Amino acid sequence: MNAQERRAAHATTGSPAGPAPRPQMMRAVRTRRAGSAAHLELTELPVPAPAPDEVLVAVHATSVTRGDVVLRRMPGLVVRAFGETPKRVLGHEFAGRVVAVGDQAVGFAPGARVMGATSGTAHGAHAEFVRVAADGLLVEIPDHVAFAEAAPVPVGAMTALHFLDAGGVGHGTRVLVNGASGSVGTFAVQIARARGARVTGVSSARNATLVRELGAEEVLDHATVDVREAGARFDVVFDTVGTLRGRSAGALLAPGGRVVTTRSRRDETLPELMEVRDLLATGALRAVVDSTYDLAGIRDAHAVVETGRKRGNVLVRVRGDR
Ligand SMILES: NC(=O)c1ccc[n+]([C@@H]2O[C@H](COP(=O)([O-])OP(=O)(O)OC[C@H]3O[C@@H](n4cnc5c(N)ncnc54)[C@H](OP(=O)(O)O)[C@@H]3O)[C@@H](O)[C@H]2O)c1
Repeated sequence: MNAQERRAAHATTGSPAGPAPRPQMMRAVRTRRAGSAAHLELTELPVPAPAPDEVLVAVHATSVTRGDVVLRRMPGLVVRAFGETPKRVLGHEFAGRVVAVGDQAVGFAPGARVMGATSGTAHGAHAEFVRVAADGLLVEIPDHVAFAEAAPVPVGAMTALHFLDAGGVGHGTRVLVNGASGSVGTFAVQIARARGARVTGVSSARNATLVRELGAEEVLDHATVDVREAGARFDVVFDTVGTLRGRSAGALLAPGGRVVTTRSRRDETLPELMEVRDLLATGALRAVVDSTYDLAGIRDAHAVVETGRKRGNVLVRVRGDR
């Protein structure tokens, strides 16, 4: 079954009541110019109209990711040089309810509960509404999963999945996850464990219990242990932090082992998002939430992400959970 067929198989008709009347204006966080979080402002913008191949989603929850911070700081010219659309409204991932569907958009009906990501659009999810291509990074979320549980999942979990696949992590693989308590790391530990891999996590002592609960059989405290001396015993070293390069990482590898890092650029894909949703549905995956803000607290949310020490994900609630 290809991605489109899988999507069709999962699509439901949503609420028979149809969409509620929409306001003309919405609250959104706009980036006035590149630089510090002080340039973020909560303002009123027109509610976007979905293009024929798009759906409009009422955002219930979103997050602030490392990528949001990078884009916030990056001047528009540089963003374009990377082939990205400059984002006036940040917010990469979201969960919410479909409230309008373009004429040619298939697979989603008003009322559907969805999660997804907004790659390559000027308007992200730090707003009350976001428009998304119906054949883009959008899937329905399981009924028993709340919006706040789904919203912080897509980016970190798709990233973890992609790089674990790149490393060939499967049953019995001995994998070291550096940065095991961050967003990508917490998802990587869980996905590797779900595949039957044997996981060693690297985090600070304050997060060791969490990393164990997520599935690591061993946790190394980077403040007190020189991780580079942990021994040449891993089939895969997954470095989400950037402290295990070259020889440092090589010294940890068993014969034939591989190093994967989150530094490589890549495109997120719908099959990845579907796999992540399926893991969420079975309970094999959950999002760890460091702290929660509303749109008015977005600058504080960015400040937490900028510490480089967040525990899992920073959630932003936009509406209630149902
Ligand atoms: N290529 C892609 O598609 C893609 C997508 C998403 C993210 N990324 C990149 O992936 C990286 C990770 O993102 P993220 O959101 O997971 O980061 P994050 O959540 O901000 O990571 C924070 C974690 O890093 C840990 N950490 C800090 N210093 C450490 C050290 N010396 N050794 C081990 N752990 C350390 C901290 O753990 P303690 O507090 O416990 O020390 C903290 O929990 C970022 O560079 C991001 O830009 C790439």
